[in-house]
Amino acid sequence: MARVVRTRSEVFGQIRRELYDEHDFGEVTHIFIIMGASGDLAKKKIYPTLWWLFKDRLLPKETYFVGFARSRLTLDDIRTACLPYMKVKDEDDELLSAFICRNSYLAGSYTEAESFIQLQTHLDSLCHSATANHLFYLALPPSVYHDVTKNIREHCMSNKGWNRVIVEKPFGRDLQSSEELSAHLSALFSEEQIYRIDHYLGKEMVQNLMVLRFGNRIFGPIWNRESVACVILTFKEPFGTYGRGGYFDDFGIIRDVMQNHLLQMLTLVAMEKPASTSSDDVRDEKVKVLKCISPVALSDVVLGQYVGNPEGEGDVKMGYLDDPTVPEDSHTATFATAVLYVHNERWEGVPFVLRCGKALNERKAEVRLQFTDVPGDIFNLQCQRNELVVRVQPDEAIYAKMMSKKPGVYFNPEETELDLTYRSRYKDVKLPDAYERLILDVFSGSQMHFVRSDELREAWRIFTPLLHQIEAEKAQPIPYTYGSRGPKEADELMKRVGFRYEGTYKWVDPNPV
Ligand code: NDP
Ligand code: BG6
Repeated sequence: MARVVRTRSEVFGQIRRELYDEHDFGEVTHIFIIMGASGDLAKKKIYPTLWWLFKDRLLPKETYFVGFARSRLTLDDIRTACLPYMKVKDEDDELLSAFICRNSYLAGSYTEAESFIQLQTHLDSLCHSATANHLFYLALPPSVYHDVTKNIREHCMSNKGWNRVIVEKPFGRDLQSSEELSAHLSALFSEEQIYRIDHYLGKEMVQNLMVLRFGNRIFGPIWNRESVACVILTFKEPFGTYGRGGYFDDFGIIRDVMQNHLLQMLTLVAMEKPASTSSDDVRDEKVKVLKCISPVALSDVVLGQYVGNPEGEGDVKMGYLDDPTVPEDSHTATFATAVLYVHNERWEGVPFVLRCGKALNERKAEVRLQFTDVPGDIFNLQCQRNELVVRVQPDEAIYAKMMSKKPGVYFNPEETELDLTYRSRYKDVKLPDAYERLILDVFSGSQMHFVRSDELREAWRIFTPLLHQIEAEKAQPIPYTYGSRGPKEADELMKRVGFRYEGTYKWVDPNPV
């Protein structure tokens, strides 16, 4: 049978090659404008990412970087603030100077047209080619989104090339505020111009989910309610929110991580095979999954808030409420486990457990499929369930927990694993940071790993009633100790919906670092 050859594959970064080959970018000026250049995100993530891309010569040759913010800073101030995060090596000195030469900074007001007229004059002064493309990165608090986007639209659009706007989360606080923001943005820009970042979509193993699922024959037949007992999506961090309490308290862990990062991973696990790997075919399938999920009920949720561990050292002693930037009586959850169901033919009845938390026992993000028991046991209950784990971070790995005959004179089954650990299998491969991939995607015009407005709407539809109920009822989170696995009630909830933990699996790392 003839194979269908798809010409515009977006998998494996092919689109980047296609775009870079098709266009002679040497003739095109690109200007990357960082709105909020004085802020934390810009300094810790955006500038360092631009530097790494520049250093690896992945950006078009004629690319300039313009910082814009209210603070009266010099380029030197920006450089000093960013340097600790840029991982510059001694031998990079010359390249770093070349990068700095491509940068400029302008102070101005987010609300006044005059500042944006000046910005546009500056952008024009950088462009000496027939085509100029503008990329705007909104590393800004949501409170100034409206003014900034309106001013960009009115004063800073390139009329000699394309314009793209990268928007950072939070995209609103609930369905209504998100819809307002979406309506505002769509009145100013077309959907093709808007790149909503969820940086988890830029992570290696999150992107791998599609290849694993749709590039292998072995998983297809078991990827459904017949064989999967439950799916667990986990995000854990071993540190608290100390110092960031002001922001975090307003949002809480459900808005910060669950409604976006974990839900995005869920859609990639649960979606049907898209017609192609084009951005919209993929996102159409993700939206279909979301449409099959009912709003989460509070009875399917466990909330937690960390308390200090008096036996720990340093920050570990500090509970969430000990942070002076957090209100004394805050009910904000720093941990949540929620059970969602995808009501479609493939997944009806299979619990998708989303769990995330701060100040836990380890750093980990993973997708875990636990399979059902083997029917018709002949090994006297010695077999444990199979699990397929895709570990997103740290130490990217895919492992399948399985039973195998205990080697030697025995005939009894033993737990072991098929293991694809990236650091052993791909020794010399440097995995790019999520932001590197995503920013490159914006240059290339690929929206596959960005959130479309209808995805966002569905994500808020699923979580808004829960969030409103938690706030209205002032639902009290369960205290858990800094450095623990979270409240035991979360394990009980997982057990109740069918997750089985035996505690028998022991991992022996064959290549300890
Ligand atoms: P485990 O059996 O230890 O854990 C399986 C699941 O059970 C996890 O989701 C875990 O949650 C949960 N769990 C742990 N304790 C309890 C409890 N008391 N009650 C209820 N649920 C619980 O197996 P893992 O798959 O996690 O593997 C164990 C270790 O081996 C891990 O550190 C893993 O990274 C490592 N390993 C590494 C591989 C590699 O690098 N390639 C391959 C295979 C294993 P929680 O996440 O909260 O702990
Ligand atoms: C952000 C959250 O989106 O993701 C943070 O706002 C969280 O609270 C961060 O710490 C985690 O990202 P990563 O890439 O370090 O897992």
